[in-house]
Amino acid sequence: MRVIRFSLLLALVMALSGCGEDPKPPANTTNNATPKDPALAQIYANSCQLCHANPAANAPLTGDRKAWEPRLQQGTDTLLDHAINGYNGMPPMGQCVECSEEQFLQLIGFMADQPLPQ
Ligand code: HEC
Repeated sequence: MRVIRFSLLLALVMALSGCGEDPKPPANTTNNATPKDPALAQIYANSCQLCHANPAANAPLTGDRKAWEPRLQQGTDTLLDHAINGYNGMPPMGQCVECSEEQFLQLIGFMADQPLPQ
């Protein structure tokens, strides 16, 4: 009986310590640029930045104009469509379910560091 209790306790301790690794954004975030608008900065920090400032995510990086250029050439409608509906590794709505189209456009323009095509 004792032995069983002990192993249960051990299992519990192990499970708890597993949870100790809190889900922080990736540590190798290299790009700390953030939108000037505080509301937008908040959205960016909570969603887009996790991938778009992390080279390991394979997303076009914030401020990397070269990476964004071919994407912008698709046209703003396509970019918006891909942001809202998802595109390969890009999750639908970039994990920001409450974002408006206007906010997506602002976020994309910020990350691309250049005006969006008409
Ligand atoms: C979970 C990671 C992740 C998050 C969060 C994320 N993205 Fe992305 N995003 C990606 C990846 C990966 C790609 C590259 C997809 C590809 O080209 O295969 C991408 C590509 C894009 C593209 C280009 C699509 C195209 O047609 O080339 C846009 C626009 C975009 N993201 C906007 C956003 C916005 C805005 C946010 C925040 C609201 C956001 N993303 C959040 C991972 C993410």
